Amino acid sequence: MTPRTSVRIGMIGAGFLAETRARCYAQVHGYDVQIVAVAARTSERAAAYADRHAIPRVFTDYRELLALPDVDAVDLCVPNHLHRPLTEAAAAAGKHVICTKPLTAYVGQDLAANATDADVSDQSRAQMLAVATMDAVAMVAATERGDVHLMYGENWVYAPAISRAAGLIAHSRGVILEMRGGECHNGSHSPFSKIWRYTGGGALVRLGSHPIGAMLYLKQQEGLARNGAPIRPVSVSAEVGDLSKIAAVADAEKNWIVRGWQDVENWAALILTFDDSSRGVVYASDAVLGGMESRLEIFLSNGQFKCNLSPHDLLQTYSPDASVLGNAYLMEKASTSAGWSTPLPNEDWSSGQLAMCQDFVAAVAENRPARSDGRLGLEVTRVVYAAYLSAEQGRRVEI
Ligand SMILES: NC(=O)c1ccc[n+]([C@@H]2O[C@H](COP(=O)([O-])OP(=O)(O)OC[C@H]3O[C@@H](n4cnc5c(N)ncnc54)[C@H](OP(=O)(O)O)[C@@H]3O)[C@@H](O)[C@H]2O)c1
Repeated sequence: MTPRTSVRIGMIGAGFLAETRARCYAQVHGYDVQIVAVAARTSERAAAYADRHAIPRVFTDYRELLALPDVDAVDLCVPNHLHRPLTEAAAAAGKHVICTKPLTAYVGQDLAANATDADVSDQSRAQMLAVATMDAVAMVAATERGDVHLMYGENWVYAPAISRAAGLIAHSRGVILEMRGGECHNGSHSPFSKIWRYTGGGALVRLGSHPIGAMLYLKQQEGLARNGAPIRPVSVSAEVGDLSKIAAVADAEKNWIVRGWQDVENWAALILTFDDSSRGVVYASDAVLGGMESRLEIFLSNGQFKCNLSPHDLLQTYSPDASVLGNAYLMEKASTSAGWSTPLPNEDWSSGQLAMCQDFVAAVAENRPARSDGRLGLEVTRVVYAAYLSAEQGRRVEI
């Protein structure tokens, strides 16, 4: 098939992530990329997004967007509970699918419509694991049936620090013995992040899925290069908790830690064991002050790498007072510009969002799988919910 140079995207969702994606698609090179339509729940937000990004068609019903013959791929920037139904609908309509992380989540999709928030979060973790895995398998199957590609929006796989490390690791032929990685900050912008039924869990699924995705990807690549088969995760041990409920924090007069987590954890840690006995140590927290921290350390038989996605020190600044820089944007989740800070020169670049959009567009144009694909998303889903099961039962869980 002759590669196409024109790639037409249908954006579903017009919120936080959709904004990042529009910025990144506008910078993709080598292809003529256009967002040709947007669908969101409310016409006002969809129309405002379309105005900002010069998008000609606006819908409040995503099915109308899917019916457009000139959409090659849809980018699902919608809440987790919509990932499976929209992927299935898009695949049936013959569209390639870009689905953000997490690929899917347990949000009570097996319960009656009148189930309460508590019914959802009280569900056994074994049931959550079964349902979320079934969803992810169904998403992969739907896109295979539709003969379209499912691209998994794991930006860590594409973050320059991690992809450069991956290249050097391949070159060195080292064995990855251990990885330590986490994403931490001081709580999501979204009130829905505090309720299980809207997100499918807390810090573990929202933040931890990034380092888990990167670790699974790196071990896959190592196995493929050495033996022609990916090295796979075999077990997980995890703990979760809500650190904002520590009594002295709850009672403090002045409190900087985000509180009000309804039924989700704001802290998680897990140990992942791979089938070659190497380990991954993952942490995720909504109780870390000082802006977004996204880091991965990789310890090899012949060296080590420290990948700093955020913060990194390409640029450092000092301000005696927050009024100096006013409300200038420095980096994600930075709560003050007073003192020393690290304004990120290009967050879309260092987070990997830019390179990811470049690969997704090229994958559509060349009709080939993306580097981060639906099967990686499926594995991450399995690890995340196996970790919840481990934390519930206080034991190591086989995957
Ligand atoms: N680094 C990352 O990979 C990253 C970062 C952030 C978020 N995410 C993921 O991105 C997804 C969206 O998060 P967000 O922060 O962008 O949320 P958000 O700001 O709340 O935006 C969600 C969007 O979905 C739209 N929507 C809801 N129901 C819809 C429906 N039935 N049909 C069409 N549109 C619908 C909403 O429409 P209205 O605007 O009209 O309400 C809104 O525009 C989540 O899965 C999250 O985990 C990933």
